[in-house]
Amino acid sequence: MEKREQLYEGKAKKVFKTDDPELLIVSYKDDATAFNGLKKGTISGKGVINNKMTNMLMQRLEQAGIPTHFVEELSDRDTLVKKVTIIPLEVIVRNIAAGSFSQRYGVEEGVVFDAPTIEFSYKNDELGDPLLNTYHAVAMKLATPQDIETITKYAFAVNKQLKAFWRECGVTLVDFKMEFGKVADGSIVLADEISPDTSRLWDSSTGKKLDKDRFRRDLGGVEDAYTEIMRRLTQHI
Ligand code: TMP
Repeated sequence: MEKREQLYEGKAKKVFKTDDPELLIVSYKDDATAFNGLKKGTISGKGVINNKMTNMLMQRLEQAGIPTHFVEELSDRDTLVKKVTIIPLEVIVRNIAAGSFSQRYGVEEGVVFDAPTIEFSYKNDELGDPLLNTYHAVAMKLATPQDIETITKYAFAVNKQLKAFWRECGVTLVDFKMEFGKVADGSIVLADEISPDTSRLWDSSTGKKLDKDRFRRDLGGVEDAYTEIMRRLTQHI
């Protein structure tokens, strides 16, 4: 399958048409942004890692019965995916307090929750992806109540799978962001990526951050952290 016209260029990926109207090619870049694009940089090799990691994890999730947009890895940076209409919600599951949760509610980073939490943000760069509740999402016709029920069920199932999997790799899954989309028949699938850009991943024994927070917070060793988390994954699979 070949790339045709470029449909879209996002902060971390480009999306291309193919000759099949139901299939697209996503191409992962090394570009990194944070704080809604205010901070810009490059993480060398990130595109390759995020592409391969997303594909490995999505294949595992498929095996566990969670539908995804994944079709086939075409190269180091390019993957064939099902064309979806993205539901404009960022779906975040948290197992441990960190990031905006810690800031918003004054809860120290690292506090472990008794049960995972879920939250939704309106995917809208101009507004800075504001947090919203499910009634707001329905009122704005971003999703139906049935869509939200399905998304919530999938999101917690994804968390259960990923948390267990990362634990086997010696990594604690703190939180992560998902996006869902609808395929041609209207069914909902997990889309976008699952990577250190979109997850917080801490070394289980040292607590070392092995994710994009190293970039966001200028902690240094960004490339090394991406390489290390990928090594953990490939050694385990
Ligand atoms: P937060 O604590 O900043 O809300 O982030 C929660 C999770 O979502 C974290 O794993 C990083 C991820 N995330 C994204 O993937 N994209 C974003 O734009 C933001 C703000 C967070």
